[in-house]
Amino acid sequence: MSERQILDIENVQELLNRNDEIIRKIRDVNEEDKRAHGKQKYACTVTYGCQMNEHDSEKLNAMLMEMGYLSTDAFEKADLIIFNTCCVRENAELKVYGNLGHIKHIKESKPDLILAVCGCMMQQPHIVEEIKKQYKYVDLVFGTHNIQNFPALLEETMNKHQQVVEVWDSEGMIIEGMPIERKFDVKAYVNIMFGCNNFCSYCIVPYTRGRERSRRPEDILDEVKLLVEGGVKEIMVLGQNVNSYGNTFDSEYDFSDLLREINAIEGIERIRFMTSHPKDISEKLLVTMSECEHICEYLHLPVQSGSNAVLKKMNRKYTREKYLETVRRAKELIPELTLSTDIIVGFPGETDEDFEDTLDLVKQVGYDSAFTFIYSMRTGTPAATYDNQVPETVKHERFDRLLKTINPVIKSKIKAMQDEVVEVLVEKPAKNTEGYMMGRTRRNHTVTFPGDSSMVGKLVKVKITNPKTFSLSGEVVE
Ligand code: 5AD
Ligand code: SF4
Repeated sequence: MSERQILDIENVQELLNRNDEIIRKIRDVNEEDKRAHGKQKYACTVTYGCQMNEHDSEKLNAMLMEMGYLSTDAFEKADLIIFNTCCVRENAELKVYGNLGHIKHIKESKPDLILAVCGCMMQQPHIVEEIKKQYKYVDLVFGTHNIQNFPALLEETMNKHQQVVEVWDSEGMIIEGMPIERKFDVKAYVNIMFGCNNFCSYCIVPYTRGRERSRRPEDILDEVKLLVEGGVKEIMVLGQNVNSYGNTFDSEYDFSDLLREINAIEGIERIRFMTSHPKDISEKLLVTMSECEHICEYLHLPVQSGSNAVLKKMNRKYTREKYLETVRRAKELIPELTLSTDIIVGFPGETDEDFEDTLDLVKQVGYDSAFTFIYSMRTGTPAATYDNQVPETVKHERFDRLLKTINPVIKSKIKAMQDEVVEVLVEKPAKNTEGYMMGRTRRNHTVTFPGDSSMVGKLVKVKITNPKTFSLSGEVVE
């Protein structure tokens, strides 16, 4: 789908120069407004979904800041609102529609407010049609592949009094050198690849994010070096399926090689990565994790189901036995490892026995945390056409049973951390508790403790005094 002519920009530099020029123009207008009328412009970006979307919002925010906007969380204060949407499950979509309804009222009393929607939902033609018909007051619609074009789209929206829509259905080239506004000084996301080739039968992502493309190692390493020089201590390496990083390169260079190079960067403290696909995780990666001092003892390894029959229908391309063997080997090589996972219940055709297999696998692994989901039918995916959909009541029942199996294990692991001394990277003041800071352990536990902002970015040793399931608290001991 393309509403406008796809811009044929051969030269990335040309695109970056054009963006700079438009950003400057908009900044001049905003500054003139401020000078003449004392009016500061505000932008509000609301992000749904995964870390990829968070990172895309950082890119949008960087451009907005350069245009002279300040950021706000309050819709009422904003001159520009962007919803960066997710469509992995229906719930995420419903939230966006709910919020669009709310903004309609604000727009009625503030006609100059610009409302933009972007992200994964917009990659689906039926949703764009819905926005065009039912949400005519949305000023700008753009897709996941159009972010690099945001300045031109915003300028067009400002000059035109009708809805502007630009959604490319193909991914195009990887653009290096775009500005990025980082949310944390302590931690930063770094994309190493875009898209996904796996086509799990329930998942919409391959249709919204396009085919897998890996960034060149030198571009990634330059970015990490720049971040570390700027004070970043922890890098979260992002990709839909990091274990297939580099598959499109001519050379043998792979994800483990990249991690080793990142690990060697002077000044880096911690490295995390997500998401690993169990079908592609290699012995080489596990050995790399065990040998590189800065790679955290944390692995997110989505299993989705413990039943071989369901895994096959999901097109996951591994068995429960292979998954359990990977977990066994990972724990052998990295004894301190914490494991998290994603699980879907109620996939079409999932029988009671299939679900029992999932419960059994969960018990065998003993996860430290888990993201659990009720299967949500996504139009356009193969699983949406499967005829034996599981009734809602059964899905909810299974979901509750799954939580009752997982949660006590997580709880007992956390309880066992009483009096343990852990290394915490201090991130920011704790929410709602004056005089407390929060940070994370290498194994990805959130910890709060008495402290002040001068500790941000430091590694401190904290003794756990009160281990509660979702927040451990303690005291700094050195
Ligand atoms: N229904 C429910 N959960 C889904 N996920 C992806 N697609 C769906 C769907 N249609 C979950 C998977 C994935 C996580 C990011 O979202 O567990 O790992
Ligand atoms: Fe979706 Fe599967 Fe790709 Fe993950 S690996 S993004 S679940 S298709």
